Amino acid sequence: MRAIRIHMTDDQRRLQLDEVPVPAPRPDQVIVRVAAVSLNRADLGRGRVGGGAGSNEPAIPGLDIAGVVESVGEEVTAWKPGDRVMALVTGGAYAEYCPARATLTYAIPEGMSFAEASTIPCVFLTAYYALTTVANLQRGETALIHAAGSGVGSAGIQIARALGARVITSAGSDAKVTRGLELGAEAGVNYSRQDLRIELLRLTDERGVDVVLDPVGGDIYGATLGALAPGGRVVTIGGTAGPRAPADEASLQAKGQTVRPMMVFNAALEDSEGRGAARLNAWFEDGTLRPVIDRVLPMGEAAAAQRLLADRRVFGKVVLVWED
Ligand SMILES: NC(=O)c1ccc[n+]([C@@H]2O[C@H](COP(=O)([O-])OP(=O)(O)OC[C@H]3O[C@@H](n4cnc5c(N)ncnc54)[C@H](OP(=O)(O)O)[C@@H]3O)[C@@H](O)[C@H]2O)c1
Repeated sequence: MRAIRIHMTDDQRRLQLDEVPVPAPRPDQVIVRVAAVSLNRADLGRGRVGGGAGSNEPAIPGLDIAGVVESVGEEVTAWKPGDRVMALVTGGAYAEYCPARATLTYAIPEGMSFAEASTIPCVFLTAYYALTTVANLQRGETALIHAAGSGVGSAGIQIARALGARVITSAGSDAKVTRGLELGAEAGVNYSRQDLRIELLRLTDERGVDVVLDPVGGDIYGATLGALAPGGRVVTIGGTAGPRAPADEASLQAKGQTVRPMMVFNAALEDSEGRGAARLNAWFEDGTLRPVIDRVLPMGEAAAAQRLLADRRVFGKVVLVWED
């Protein structure tokens, strides 16, 4: 099969289209014939090493796929060849065939294309579990969703709205803030030209925000903590702007505030019945949520697609599709 792999030479990273063997499913996996892959920030690294422990085999990147089940492992009963699915995977997505755990494979919402479906698993599940399981966001609370234009942020704005929260968003440009308002945020802050803490306090009548979804980190995190309401909950998920300075634990405790990191894979595995994915699918089917696609490109343009993401020149998701 064809696959895009990451070749590392002298710390130079190059994506290359290679011929590699078609994977066989483990007992708990399905093999998906991939139609579309959406990019995530995690794809920009070196990737998981392809051949297992001790191997230097170039890795195939990618966490998000949509396509058709080709074959299933012997323990799998939930899926059969021919099913239209999307899946959260741990690498191996930029390929014609990709293994996926059956329990992290989901039905595609009614009427949705493969390109649209490929944008759902990683960022919508991340935002959903962060705002529900981890932050326990309640109707009527104020949710701050950082980085409106990120995959996670563009999903988080919509989910927080669907959960009945008042949403404030942030971004590094006025254009991205405006797009965030179009997705359902009531207010937005441009953190590259406005004082985030002061603006957040102004927008909440000095009370602060109840819940924060923070995939950015860096300086933004400190400003956020300064505008957190009593009892406020911050969920951190990665950090595109760099590490977070340690929070003042005593101050957090005194105000009943919490900061918790989360991993989408753990959260999705804990939800073994896929309740989160089922609720999201219902919201996609009734129009409450919509995929946010910046552009769709052929798989051969994977390197250019990754550059767009790295340079922050996209709003929402970039999708790669196989063209025969
Ligand atoms: N732990 C998990 O389970 C999990 C799951 C999904 C994602 N993540 C993590 O969440 C983060 C976001 O992922 P994503 O795929 O949504 O990212 P993305 O689509 O590439 O968006 C990243 C955003 O970060 C903002 N940003 C601010 N400062 C930045 C800087 N110095 N460099 C680059 N971007 C900067 C950019 O917004 P502006 O241009 O508006 O500033 C951009 O929209 C990543 O760290 C990712 O690894 C974690």
